Amino acid sequence: MQQIKEARRLRALLKAQSGAGKSIGFVPTMGNLHEGHLSLVRRARALTDFVVVSIFVNPLQFDRQDDLDAYPRTLEADARLLERAGVGLLYAPDPDDFYPDEADRLTRIDVPVVTERLEGAARPGHFSGVATVVARLFNLVQPDIAVFGEKDYQQLRMIEKMVVDLGMPVTIMSEPTVREADGLAMSSRNSRLSEAEREKAPRLYEVLKKVAEVVRLGGRDFRKIESKGAELLRSGGFRVDYLEICRATDLQPATGRDTELIVLAAVWLGNTRLIDNLRV
Ligand code: PAJ
Repeated sequence: MQQIKEARRLRALLKAQSGAGKSIGFVPTMGNLHEGHLSLVRRARALTDFVVVSIFVNPLQFDRQDDLDAYPRTLEADARLLERAGVGLLYAPDPDDFYPDEADRLTRIDVPVVTERLEGAARPGHFSGVATVVARLFNLVQPDIAVFGEKDYQQLRMIEKMVVDLGMPVTIMSEPTVREADGLAMSSRNSRLSEAEREKAPRLYEVLKKVAEVVRLGGRDFRKIESKGAELLRSGGFRVDYLEICRATDLQPATGRDTELIVLAAVWLGNTRLIDNLRV
């Protein structure tokens, strides 16, 4: 596995690969890798000849400086995992020279509607930061296929729309959420939970399952089901940002006529924010 920092070297290496007729798979990450990330890498390996992973803690997508500062950075351990997973190239740029201009002078990408609610409402500027970095990474890597996790469902939907709207020549694939044995969705932020918080955390997925089950059994008063779900979360010790039953396509609030549904939630345990979702 080659590990590089400079965009120019990245382009030269990848040109050689595609020149040799190899298809390129890409998995963008912010590092601190776990089984969730590795499941995306395995999918990319199964689908393409040469897999690129990026590790870049993107300042544009953080709405809180303390969250950016506290984000775990474990490049050496990550590189070992990727090497063992059969990745061809790790692109880990320096934060200071990834973007060609200051944040407030940079060209930005905004994907409307699908980003307006949920995470978009809770974290102003977050999705524009994600769309902008992913567009830049796509242009640098020029992958045939890029793989994203359903764990960040709204992000996945936004990227799919961006690619269609801008005619980007890349196919977006997705992988189901990888969970710990007790149901907690794997996340780099889980390591920030105290022992007591870690014990409470699996309740989030349990409540999502309960809510999805009520809907599956025909419950159609979605607003009432949502507030009961939020109440269950609060009694489990969470502060609740949102728990919503949405249309799986555009993440607008579901109505009784919608058929493709998803339950999404964001909660706090102490200073740690957790998100999870479940398709009905
Ligand atoms: P990061 O949180 O590192 O996640 C990278 C990819 O791994 C995303 O596609 C995410 O959905 C997926 N992922 C995370 N946890 C997962 C789990 N438990 N199961 C399956 N997939 C999981 O998402 C980002 O980084 C950034 O926003 C990024 C797209 C890299 C742009 O900066």
